[in-house]
Amino acid sequence: MTYILGIESSCDDTSAAVINNTRVLSNVIANQHVHSAYGGVVPELASRAHQQNIIPVVDVALKEAKISKNQLDAIAFTRGPGLLGSLLVGTSFAKSFALALGIPIIEVDHLKAHILSHFLEDVSGEKQPRFPYLCLTVSGGHTQIVKVRDASNMEIIGSTIDDAAGEAFDKAAKIMGLPYPGGPEIDRLAKLGNPMAFTFTQPRIPGLDYSFSGLKTAFLYFLRDNLRIDSEFIDKNKADLAASIQYTIIEILLKKLKLAADETGIKEIAIAGGVSANSGLRNAITQMAASEGWEIHIPAMRYTTDNAAMIAVAGYFKFLDGDFASQDLTPYARSKF
Ligand code: KG4
Ligand code: ZN
Repeated sequence: MTYILGIESSCDDTSAAVINNTRVLSNVIANQHVHSAYGGVVPELASRAHQQNIIPVVDVALKEAKISKNQLDAIAFTRGPGLLGSLLVGTSFAKSFALALGIPIIEVDHLKAHILSHFLEDVSGEKQPRFPYLCLTVSGGHTQIVKVRDASNMEIIGSTIDDAAGEAFDKAAKIMGLPYPGGPEIDRLAKLGNPMAFTFTQPRIPGLDYSFSGLKTAFLYFLRDNLRIDSEFIDKNKADLAASIQYTIIEILLKKLKLAADETGIKEIAIAGGVSANSGLRNAITQMAASEGWEIHIPAMRYTTDNAAMIAVAGYFKFLDGDFASQDLTPYARSKF
């Protein structure tokens, strides 16, 4: 019985979770609504909100888990990548709380945590992936295909050379005048539209890498040209535009994932990160899995976007290896893996 407290503060969500081995006892997330007025995350405001949220969020996580702080065996926290000012809040809190309790700290890479979120056990009873598996990590800041040999041995075999898939969703939404974050808005509208209404050229990038900046520009010019002819073009075609851009992003994502599966011969496939909440992607990958004979792992909705339970479970694997961090470490903004 190992109790681990996980802390996540890399972007604009303050989260704390308690797990017992891989079983989730609590997973508390405080979203920061202050950013929506600015159309994106404002780092200074995020850091300040984390400072206000961190103690209440940890307090609630311990209460919901029905354990006392003295029962904790270790504290796992996101060291990076992310916004430095935000990461500092979680890192400093984890260090000082662990020091006071006399327990070890475990540093966790945010992206690896998304990938390992599939090992969280709760009421949903999802099947855990078997090693080696391929994980398509799609978030606001990253798009990667990762070969996961085991919890401590991962290799990025493909990644974006410019924008992330989440950015492609968010920027397309912004161009259409939809509120931030745009991904969920596009998803909602796409359900009402025709994905074949408009076609956009797809990037020709060799190997397993991605590119989304060309699509964003193509979408921008397409709307600009049509708005010249009809100033209400976006309003009249909102759902079709959302469905078509979503369809294109998913096509781009899945083509390379299929190539990666073919090249590696791995049929155990997972998706992770904020964009894995997208209903179109979840449907399309389920269909592809059936035709390709893949064993597919789609995270429960609550573990798609940023959460501390995934940090705790990534920490649990390191706990088993005795892989603890020292009190003098500092956060990193860019991924080190
Ligand atoms: O993993 P995440 O919560 O944070 C990062 O680490 O970046 O991912 C956030 C991203 C945002 O770009 C957001 O628009 C996107 O995930 N997202 C979605 C959906 N829900 C969140 N994109 C498309 N469809 C969704 N349903
Ligand atoms: Zn994330």
